[in-house]
Amino acid sequence: MLRLRCSHDLLLAVVLLASVLSRPADAFTELESAQIRLFQDYLRICTAHPSPDYAGAAGFLLPYAESLGLRTVTLQFTPCKSKPLLLLTWPGTDPSLSSILLNSHLDSVPAEPEHWVHPPFAAHHDVATGRVYARGAQDDKCLPIQYLEAIRGLQAAGFAPTRTLHISLVPDEEIGGRDGFEKFAQSEEFRALNVGFMLDEGQASLTDEFRVFYGDRLVWRLIVKATGMPGHGSKMFDGAAVENLMDCIETVVGFREAQFGMVKAGNRGPGEVVSVNPVYMKAGTLSPTGFVMNMQPSEAEVGFDLRIPPTEDVEHIIRRIKEEWAPAHKNLTYQLMKKGPTRDLAGRPIVTPTNASNPWWSVFEHAIISAGGKLAKPEILSSSVDSRFVRQLGIPALGFSPMTNTPILLHDNNEFLEDKVFLRGIKVYEHIIRALSSFRG
Ligand SMILES: *[C@@H]1O[C@H](CO)[C@@H](O)[C@H](O)[C@H]1NC(C)=O
Ligand SMILES: *[C@@H]1O[C@H](CO)[C@@H](O)[C@H](O)[C@H]1NC(C)=O
Ligand SMILES: [Zn+2]
Repeated sequence: MLRLRCSHDLLLAVVLLASVLSRPADAFTELESAQIRLFQDYLRICTAHPSPDYAGAAGFLLPYAESLGLRTVTLQFTPCKSKPLLLLTWPGTDPSLSSILLNSHLDSVPAEPEHWVHPPFAAHHDVATGRVYARGAQDDKCLPIQYLEAIRGLQAAGFAPTRTLHISLVPDEEIGGRDGFEKFAQSEEFRALNVGFMLDEGQASLTDEFRVFYGDRLVWRLIVKATGMPGHGSKMFDGAAVENLMDCIETVVGFREAQFGMVKAGNRGPGEVVSVNPVYMKAGTLSPTGFVMNMQPSEAEVGFDLRIPPTEDVEHIIRRIKEEWAPAHKNLTYQLMKKGPTRDLAGRPIVTPTNASNPWWSVFEHAIISAGGKLAKPEILSSSVDSRFVRQLGIPALGFSPMTNTPILLHDNNEFLEDKVFLRGIKVYEHIIRALSSFRG
């Protein structure tokens, strides 16, 4: 209890309270303030699509890493050399052991400034709330700064890694990674890194438990085309193209509701079910004045976005599409575009085990506990990120971004990360890097 003896004390208390409420910058140490400024500086380099400033990001990150004594290499997987992939290395004392890879993508999605309370590339630091507002604040431009500042902290503590630590900073994740991690994962340079374990981006958590992702879903595209008898708009008959297409959509909607129901009931995470959503529909006969209204067309078409958990029996899904969603006897045909493999090189589902069968898992889990953190139940990501290219090679990889008690704002308006959450992340990575790079098993 604070005892107030006179008006002078009262005044002092008011001043103290006001300074706590307005959270002045000097609430942080000099180092912490510098770390927040580095975060802001990086966020101010606009790496949003459609024209990410990769040269600007490289010009910021390479000297920064070199100032910490890290080795740096710039790789290019496109002929025009406009998409740098930066590789930063902190050599370990035992090069015979496999290495640790920490990944982050350089790019971000665009932002619509008119919907933001602060300009998305100004990295405004709101001292009242501690929030740093910027596109990329959560996804995922916090990561390289946290990785590098954790290394700074470990170096200051005199720590030397046993395993070599690499950081990859890659282009184009937000547009599929074709000229980024996909080519990198297939390269001789990647093979030479001898990666034993990888950490990639995860997502913010609404609670005080960190979220961790051990797989992501397969991305499929399904187009169903219906044909049928054309006819007058006034005539009722069986086997019109639109009717056939509606049969397909009805069946898919039934399946979708069953899957979504498990998520709504809390029995499955959003990444643990098959999602299927209609994304376009095409039918009708166009005339110069609009759609012809008194004619039933002979063709109709629908496109679905389909996401499959890696543990799902894909043959079963394909059979369902063929026999139930788009049966030939209803004049339905389909085209299925499957991106990426459904099994890793060893023929297993593309997931990283989060149990005793994976020694890296317990090293990671213990590092989080030693940092004073808690892990939520491991999840499958509903979308997909670069770590899938590494899992496909049979290398364990987890998705993790140390953001607790934080709204999930990736790709959203007013994306922000709170200064204290950002700074705690640096400490968390100190524990993680220390543990992973010392692991001898
Ligand atoms: C399939 O299309 C053909 C040719 O238009 C038509 O004769 C037949 O009735 C249609 N059958 C069904 C089930 O839609
Ligand atoms: C560990 O997890 C993997 C993948 O999720 C599973 O296939 C395996 O049976 C589990 N092993 C043990 C020992 O629980
Ligand atoms: Zn991301």
